[in-house]
Amino acid sequence: MKHLARALVLAAPAVFLLGCGEQPVSYQKQVRPLLDKYCVRCHTTGGEGFQKSGFSMDSYDALMEGTQYGAVVKPGDSFTSAFVMLVEGRADPSLRMPHDQGESPTPEEVEVIKLWIDQGAKNN
Ligand code: HEC
Repeated sequence: MKHLARALVLAAPAVFLLGCGEQPVSYQKQVRPLLDKYCVRCHTTGGEGFQKSGFSMDSYDALMEGTQYGAVVKPGDSFTSAFVMLVEGRADPSLRMPHDQGESPTPEEVEVIKLWIDQGAKNN
């Protein structure tokens, strides 16, 4: 019950943004462009983030594989996904991603990623 309440609270702004109810979020059309914009420059083969953590976002498979320590996206549970914790700076502000002065995703964009994870993080 607690989980349900939390999920509703977290999903509400995203649902609102998307306009009409639980529209499925598309990895290819909505999530991928955000990763390309904010993350891939470091999290690609040879990039700083990839070298230090082993985390590449070059492909859906690489994204789901996570770091050398394991997955960072937990399908169905954005709240405990390390991916989201880092982007929101929830783990520790010094670990917030992206890691430099570069542009970071807007709260609306973060909601899209969270909704996608909550819907099962599919390669859709
Ligand atoms: C300027 C380079 C840079 C950018 C841009 C960047 N990262 Fe990172 N990322 C790093 C580095 C470096 C590490 C290695 C761990 C550390 O130093 O904290 C890392 C590690 C990570 C980790 C693994 C942390 C762990 O537990 O080992 C995740 C998840 C992550 N980044 C997500 C993201 C996401 C999501 C974005 C885009 C919103 C992003 N990063 C953008 C540099 C970057």
